[in-house]
Amino acid sequence: MELYFAPMEGVTGPQFRRAHHIYFSGVDKYYLPFISPTQDHVFTPRELRNVGPQANEGIPAVPQLLTKNAGDFLWAAGELQKMGYEEVNLNLGCPSGTVVAKGKGAGMLADLEALDRFFQEVFAADLGKLKISVKTRLGLESPQEFPALLEIFARYPISMLILHPRVRTDYYKVPVRRTEFLKVLPDIHCPLCYNGGLTTVEDCVRAEMEFSGIQGIMMGQGLIADPALARKVRGGAPAGLEELRSFHDMLYQGYLRDFGSQKNAVFHMKELWSYFFRLFDGGEKLFKQIKKAQDSRSYEGAVDRIFRELPLRQDGDWSK
Ligand SMILES: Cc1cc2nc3c(=O)[nH]c(=O)nc-3n(C[C@H](O)[C@H](O)[C@H](O)COP(=O)(O)O)c2cc1C
Repeated sequence: MELYFAPMEGVTGPQFRRAHHIYFSGVDKYYLPFISPTQDHVFTPRELRNVGPQANEGIPAVPQLLTKNAGDFLWAAGELQKMGYEEVNLNLGCPSGTVVAKGKGAGMLADLEALDRFFQEVFAADLGKLKISVKTRLGLESPQEFPALLEIFARYPISMLILHPRVRTDYYKVPVRRTEFLKVLPDIHCPLCYNGGLTTVEDCVRAEMEFSGIQGIMMGQGLIADPALARKVRGGAPAGLEELRSFHDMLYQGYLRDFGSQKNAVFHMKELWSYFFRLFDGGEKLFKQIKKAQDSRSYEGAVDRIFRELPLRQDGDWSK
């Protein structure tokens, strides 16, 4: 079974992926946070920092596109293929109000005819060896929408379906609908990946056993909270304090360098810590200090205390 890092906009950017790949093994592919190609058919400098060839050198990376326009998708996919990527992922899961209102992300699940036309146009094009995978939810409002969606997916050579078994209106709040995943599993005949709520080795092993035949599992928040989670699933060692510190420092220094502003770097590190504190016994209290930090000095003070004073937990604590 393969292990994939979920795309997490605002967290798993290029600096994060590089640092993670250097310090922690076990991830077969890193799916990148989405980029939204427009009709201008140029990548913005920000997008290039995410998907440009140097951004992911030596990292098994899969870019993700968020668009409902097949022409824009094909343009971006072609450019990404020229950069050397072997797979491009389509985002059919983003639940954000502004995205869905434009008929993109999970919004594409609302109009089956348009979705079918999109795939028809994409797969009619000469994509060479480029693989097109899809990351989707069960539907917009109800899991009952899924069979009709699956009928469309089944018409096309989708290289892998990544199914996050929630509907759009669940956002990330309602518990993952594992039983719905189990229900639809026998009807899915393309390579399949399960995504959602995997935070411990036991969760991952259970998913592999319960969802037999799946090609892989994808982890997001759990793998940010415990960067060694994939390595542990492979039978490797849990994260040590020193390697976590080195990983943290590489990421933080990267942010300070690339964002050119302490405030910005600290802002981005807070995003990481909103997951990472779970791996430290009693981390919640000191995370509050991190949240208050406005500059490097106060941020570094709080981080030093966490690494110096708090014992590491075996698994992230998700009770809070
Ligand atoms: C802050 C945040 C950003 C996300 N960004 C993306 C994204 O860019 N593309 C995407 O397909 N999913 C995105 N997701 C969804 C995750 O990839 C994943 O499907 C979700 O977190 C459930 O998996 P998990 O429980 O393992 O975290 C995002 C989720 C969060 C919480």
